[in-house]
Amino acid sequence: MFDKQVYISRRKRLLEQVREGVILLLGNSEASCNYPDNQYQFRQDSSFLYLFGLDKPDLAAVIDAESGEEWIFGDDVDIDDIIWMGPQPLIADQAATVGVANTAPFARLADCLKAAQDKGRKIHYLPPYRNHNKILLHKLLGIGFDEMKAGASVDLIKAVVALRLIKEPCEIEEIDKACNLGYAMHYAAMKMLRVGMVEQELVGVMEGVVKGAGPMISFPTILSQRGETLHNHNHAAVLTEGQLCVIDAGAEVPSHYCSDNTRTLPTGGKFTQKQKDIYEIVLTANDYAREAARPGVTYRDVHLGASKIIVQGLKNLGLVRGDVDEMVAAGVQGLFMPHGLGHNMGLDVHDMEDLGENYVGYDPDQTRAKQLGLGSLRMARKLVPGHVITDEPGIYFIPALIEKWKSEGHNAQFVNFDKLESYYTFGGIRLEDDLLITPAGARILGAKRLPITVEEIENTMYTD
Ligand code: GLY
Ligand code: MN
Repeated sequence: MFDKQVYISRRKRLLEQVREGVILLLGNSEASCNYPDNQYQFRQDSSFLYLFGLDKPDLAAVIDAESGEEWIFGDDVDIDDIIWMGPQPLIADQAATVGVANTAPFARLADCLKAAQDKGRKIHYLPPYRNHNKILLHKLLGIGFDEMKAGASVDLIKAVVALRLIKEPCEIEEIDKACNLGYAMHYAAMKMLRVGMVEQELVGVMEGVVKGAGPMISFPTILSQRGETLHNHNHAAVLTEGQLCVIDAGAEVPSHYCSDNTRTLPTGGKFTQKQKDIYEIVLTANDYAREAARPGVTYRDVHLGASKIIVQGLKNLGLVRGDVDEMVAAGVQGLFMPHGLGHNMGLDVHDMEDLGENYVGYDPDQTRAKQLGLGSLRMARKLVPGHVITDEPGIYFIPALIEKWKSEGHNAQFVNFDKLESYYTFGGIRLEDDLLITPAGARILGAKRLPITVEEIENTMYTD
C-alpha cells in the first residue's frame, strides 16, 4: 500500500472529472471454488485498490461528487470471525490509513444509495464483472442484469481510465519489481527446460518462483509446444526435441502490479535454421516496436510498422509475395499474427479491460479496425510518457486458419499456400517485453531484459 496521500490525491483528481452525483465503487468478495468455504485466492478489484488501497474483501466506497464526502462501508469482525481469521483492524482504522474519514457497516450502504436515489441523484458505477457484484448492484440500485453494463457511468469510466493509464513514479517502481519477479520466473524455466519433461513441470517451477515472493501469477500461465494456439493452457505434453515452446507468463507483486513476458525456447536448446529464420523476424519486430514507441506516435502505427517487418520477413522467405505496403493494407499479416501488438499493463495485466477495451486503448478520434489481428489491438492510443504497454509481436502457423483462407481464396494473390504446408507443424513464436513510455522514447521495465537473441537463449539453456 502507498502513502495515504497517494490515494487522497487520486480521489481528488477523480472529482475534478466527475462533478455531479454519487460515485459507488465496489470492492470484491471472496469467491467459492467447489464448496462455499473453499475459496479461490482473494483478488481485490483493481479500481477499488487504485483509489482506496484496501486489499480486503467485502468493502464498498461511496464518494459524494458534489460535497466530496467519502465513506467506506464494511463490517468489523466478530468473535466467530476472529476464531478463524485472527484479529483484524477495525474498518475505521483501515479507512484512516487511506485518508477516508467516514465508515459504516455494510448494511448501511443500501440506505445511503436509496437516499441519493430518492433525491434524483445520479449513481455512477463501473461495469461489474463478478456475479457477486452484479447481484449486489441489482439489490442496491434495482438495475436488471441485462441493463447493468449499459447503465455503467461513462463519465466515471473515462475518469478512472484517464487516471490509471498514466502511471505515477510509485507505480512504476512496483511494475519494475513485478518485472523483476517475472524475470526470475522465466529465467527458471529457461534454465530447467529439458526434453522429456512434461510442460506442467515447468509451469510448476515458474509459478513456484512467483508464489515464493508475491501473491499470485498475473494470469494463467501459457506454456506449450503448440504455441500456435495463442492462449494454450493445456500443459500435458512431454517436451520433445526440435519443438518450440512458447512461454507467456507474468507475476503480481504484493501491491498487485503485474508483469507479462513471452519467450519462445527451442526444446533441445538450439534453434534449427528454419526456426531461426522466423525467430529473427519476430525479434526484429519486437525491437522495432520498442524503438518506434515514443510520445506522439500512436501504438496503432507501431502495430502497423511491426506488421510490415513481419510481412517483409515472410516475403524474404517466399511465404508471401507482392508489395509489402499493399499486403499490410490488405491485412495479410493477420494470417500470421492474428492478435494485436500489445496492451496496457498495470494493476491488471490487461489493464482495466473490465472498463471496456475501447475506452482504455483507443483515443476518442480512433475507431477500432475489423481486420483480423489489427481488430484485436487492445492499445492503439497516441503514446504519452507514463503509459505502460506490452510489445508482443508473433508469427504463428495455424493450419486451420491457413486452410480457411486457402479455401476462401482470401488474399490468395499474396499468400504462398503451397509453401506454407511445410510449416503446418512449426508451431508459433511470440516475444514479449513490457515497456514504459518516457519523454525520450521507451524503456524495458525491470532491471534486466530476459535473454532474447538466439545467442542469448542458446547460451542460457542447457547450462548450469
Ligand atoms: N500475455 C497474455 C496476453 O497478453 O494476452
Ligand atoms: Mn501480453
